[in-house]
Amino acid sequence: MGLSQPHGGTLVNRWNPDYQGESINKEIELDEISLSDLELIGTGAYSPLTGFLTKEDYDSVLENMRLSTGEPWTIPITLPVTEEKARTFSIGETVKLVKDQVVYGVLEIIDIFTPNKEREARLVYLTNDLEHPGVKKLFERPNVYVGGKITLISRTPPGQFSVYIFDPIETREEFKKLGWNTVVGFQTRNPVHRAHEYIQKSALEIVDGLFLNPLVGETKQDDIPAGVRLKSYEVLLNKYYSKDHVFLGVFTAAMRYAGPREAVFHAMVRKNFGCTHFIVGRDHAGVGNYYGTYDAQKIFSNFTSEELGITLLFFEHSFYCHKCSGMATHKTCPHDSKYHEILSGTKVREKLRNGESLPETFSRQEVVEVLIAGLQEEVKV
Ligand code: ADX
Repeated sequence: MGLSQPHGGTLVNRWNPDYQGESINKEIELDEISLSDLELIGTGAYSPLTGFLTKEDYDSVLENMRLSTGEPWTIPITLPVTEEKARTFSIGETVKLVKDQVVYGVLEIIDIFTPNKEREARLVYLTNDLEHPGVKKLFERPNVYVGGKITLISRTPPGQFSVYIFDPIETREEFKKLGWNTVVGFQTRNPVHRAHEYIQKSALEIVDGLFLNPLVGETKQDDIPAGVRLKSYEVLLNKYYSKDHVFLGVFTAAMRYAGPREAVFHAMVRKNFGCTHFIVGRDHAGVGNYYGTYDAQKIFSNFTSEELGITLLFFEHSFYCHKCSGMATHKTCPHDSKYHEILSGTKVREKLRNGESLPETFSRQEVVEVLIAGLQEEVKV
């Protein structure tokens, strides 16, 4: 057994720093989401995508959760522009993709189309409630989509995460160097707590390595900032993980909060990074009460294991049980829920922001200290 094959069979490489784009006049100003998507397409993290979705692929993703070529793909990766801007483009043209005066890439326009966002919201997010952060973002972004193949020309400034940024080709190399044949990917957008550690380490018992891959792209306002979270992962890894069996690298995509559909997307991307296994726990990529606790696990039954090409490891809601004196789930613990240490994400964020500690049974104290200090630092800035 070796590392997983990229989704669609080939690792896409659309990065060409020597591309001569000076003669191109027209441009699209990217937002944070499309900039991160551009880079992830260019480096192959979104293989088999080679660009922003065309109408045919967009409709296929919405309706069939697959690209028009058949591969599972659940999140529409689109490039929205204003109607005014769209009117200046024609099909077949190449335009620059720019942010803050830097040309990050170019797009060969194949399609210009106006999506029905109500439909997109219903099919992708399973709601059109504007309180949902993903739906809100969908409606805030401009109304016309431009589809076509991209070339990535410049990389985004690595900033505070530089040592943790790896392209799929690099993670694959790193996993090989570590001698791993099987690697489990772990997505997270939250500070690490005991339940995360429990499911990661349970998974590690059956594979060679853990790829801890926190998302550091755009998140909703009240999520803990990625820089602060990263410190919590460092502390935990240094003190409680075997260095030979864990690798930390960031995932620069934006969070969509699309629950089940985002879980499939997350798994496909981690497969591109070389993972053979992927963890999906309770309410993966969920927000509020929009999705059922295990919907993000059930959605995988729409695909065959050959289509997915990565082994899913599903975990039940886990917690510390004071009667068991250890981590458990309803599968392994017979005790009443009054013995279970359970805190909602919202409660945890609220407590940390108020400088209040969390129970040792919920989160390790070293981690809590780093989080509180990091959040206070943030307030001062
Ligand atoms: S997510 O939006 O990135 O999914 P989070 O960082 O909280 O949010 O979760 C990371 C992963 O851990 C997801 O697979 C999620 O399902 C899982 N998870 C989080 N908390 C628990 C828990 N208490 N029990 C089981 N799985 C959990």
